[in-house]
Amino acid sequence: MPEDRASFSRMDQSTRAEWMTIGRATAELQSSVADRVVSMLRGFDQLYAGFAVSQLHHALQTATMARRANASDEMVLCALCHDIGKHVSIANHAAIAAEILRPYVSDDAYKIVLTHQQFQGRHYYEHFGKSSTLRERHRAEPWFALAERFTEEWDQAAFDPAYRVLPLAEFEPLVRATFANYPTGY
Ligand SMILES: [Fe+2]
Repeated sequence: MPEDRASFSRMDQSTRAEWMTIGRATAELQSSVADRVVSMLRGFDQLYAGFAVSQLHHALQTATMARRANASDEMVLCALCHDIGKHVSIANHAAIAAEILRPYVSDDAYKIVLTHQQFQGRHYYEHFGKSSTLRERHRAEPWFALAERFTEEWDQAAFDPAYRVLPLAEFEPLVRATFANYPTGY
């Protein structure tokens, strides 16, 4: 077995030294997390799912509009990544994106990404037999106003092929800074 790997075949036979080895290897992996987030975003360039623009354009337009509105870096990051879960599940994409971001953002930001579809639903849920007022269940939350801004001013308005978006490279430093350190407590 290589020195940088544990040798146990069952966790109930593992040692502290082996877990230290695994911990080191996990920490070293962290630098590649941002790479993977960036490449997931880049991989959205051919995903349209019926919309007028690709998911990459939508992500960039949402983030560009947030940045031009002087949103916080955290909101710009959320704008860029809020639909990233669509790589594996359009139906449950908001929860996937929220959980990817959760260790690195505030609880308010996590909740905004988690519920963004319920806010957007006001514009289309009726066409699918769903309530268009699901956002109302969150009205008392301290993050409600920001969620309204996020979805109304940026997300739902970011399907314009003619909008001049900032390039992905513009947002890469923010992505790299966000995912730079392994999140403790998870
Ligand atoms: Fe979106």
